[in-house]
Formats: sequence, structure tokens, C-alpha cells
Amino acid sequence: MTKTLVLEDPAGAAAERLAVALNEGSHVVLTGGSTPRAAYERLASMEVEWENRTLWFGDERCVPPDDERSNFGMVCKALLDRLTGATPAVRRMPGELGPWKGADAYENDLHAAFGDEPPQFDLLLLGLGPDAHCASLFPNQPALDERERLVVGVERPGLAPEVPRVTLTLPAINAATEIMFLVTGADKAAAVARAFAGKADPSAPASLVAPASGALTVLLDPPGSNWMPRVTQFDLSLSRTFRTRQSIVLTPQLDIFNALNSNTALTQVTTYGPALGNPSTILTGRLVRFQIKAQF
Ligand code: 6PG
Repeated sequence: MTKTLVLEDPAGAAAERLAVALNEGSHVVLTGGSTPRAAYERLASMEVEWENRTLWFGDERCVPPDDERSNFGMVCKALLDRLTGATPAVRRMPGELGPWKGADAYENDLHAAFGDEPPQFDLLLLGLGPDAHCASLFPNQPALDERERLVVGVERPGLAPEVPRVTLTLPAINAATEIMFLVTGADKAAAVARAFAGKADPSAPASLVAPASGALTVLLDPPGSNWMPRVTQFDLSLSRTFRTRQSIVLTPQLDIFNALNSNTALTQVTTYGPALGNPSTILTGRLVRFQIKAQF
């Protein structure tokens, strides 16, 4: 089930989820791009058992590791260089070898670690491009049809930086136990809708991400969720009364959106249409009546 959460602080939520996955599991895949940098910086100061943990990469640009366009380089600055105690094993993609030599080397690394089985990544983090690409899987490119290899080279990326890439394939990505997208900004809103509210379509590669486990979470900020279908019209009157077990912060869009996407957000004194006003807090132990009336 895809769980879409619109949050004021998606980077914080991503950092927390990464920390939990690292403390509970062994193999976590990081994404590149600029969006996750804040999450990595937050993760660096969190309580994580880094020993016997391995960090992998979803894709890499074919540049040296100290190049400013390097995803490994970004992760070093935002996370690894900030760790004081134990450090994880880091399996970076050798992008400097070129798209296919780099892909072959990383494919061997994965087989060395996981044998012939698909890699058992505990958590795999992905970003999303404005063209709905993820990792370095670009719209309508042959890499999307790969069914055998775990890693391939990409000669011509669909977006800047215009350098060849090394990327995990869909079979490697969809074998992950859990997949989490972190996407922010209004410039991604259309891609978010194509990737997560439309049908599976190679012109929107992220729409092809479907973990066999079913565990897919999409963390968005409000601007990034602007094109997601809103509950604008449906005839439903639902009312439930319960006592809150913890303080709950309400924000207008979140209520309706999350209420329909996860049962943990069933919070509203009374909700009729958009007149929800500014965020408010319902304290622990309050009797809450959640009611929604709208038309699809
Ligand atoms: C890369 C990434 C890529 C990234 C998206 C979003 O190497 O570029 O892995 O898939 O996640 O392009 O990038 P931003 O976060 O910079 O918008």
C-alpha cells in the first residue's frame, strides 16, 4: 500500500525513518540530488548504531568522488564527515569508471554481498525529478526495461547534470523491503501527481516503483502535494468519537489528506470543507469527534 504523507517537515520524518531502519536493519540505500541533504544532516546527529551497517547508493553521476556533482561527495559532506563514533560500511558506486564499467563493478559488489538473490535492502530512499525520474531511471529509456541486471549504465541522462550515470534497475529497487520517496517543492508537484496518482507509465519512471513487499511511503511537503487529487467532492458523512492518546497538531490539508491515506490522522473536532483555520493542538485525553463531509 502506498502511504502518502504531506508534512511540514518531510526531511525530519525521512531522517527519523532512516535512523529506525539503520537501527533495526543492516542495508540502507541512499539517494542523490539536493533534496535529501537536509535529511542526511539531521540523521548525522541522531542515535544510530552505525557499526555493521552498510550504506549503498541508488545511483551516481560518472564523475570522481570529490567532484561537486558526486552523490557520494554530497553524502560525505552532509552525513559521513559528521559522524564522530562508529561509522558504517559505505559501498559507493564507482562512477568515475564510466557508466558500464561502474555498473559492472557495482553489480559484482551486490552479488558479493547478497549472492544471486535480489539485494535485501531494508530501506531504499529515492528522490523524484521534475520529469518524474527516480535514481537515474529517466522517462522512456531502455534502462526501464532491464529485468536481469541489478545495475546499468546510462549514457545520456534526461536531466542535468549532463554526465553519464550508473543506476540501480527496477528489479533491484523493487526488491527492497521498504521504499521511501522524499520529495519537496512546487516544481515537483506535477511529477508527484504523475508518479503517485496516475497509472504505471514508463514516461513517469517513478510510477514503476512498486516494491514486492508493498511497503511504499511518499513524504511530501505541502507545495509538492499541490497536484495530488484532493477530496473535493464525495458524499460521505463519517463521524467517529475517540479519546486522543497524544497531543495532535492539526493543519488544514493534512487532516483530510492523511485521514484518507493513513488511520493515524483521524483528528478533527469537526471538519466541514476548507474552513479549518490555522494549525491547532488537541491535547492528550480530549474527546475528539472526527467528521468529514465532502463530495468527490
Ligand atoms: C541524482 C538523483 C536523482 C534525484 C532527482 C531529484 O543523482 O540526481 O539520484 O534521482 O533524486 O533528480 O533531484 P533533486 O533532489 O536535486 O531535485
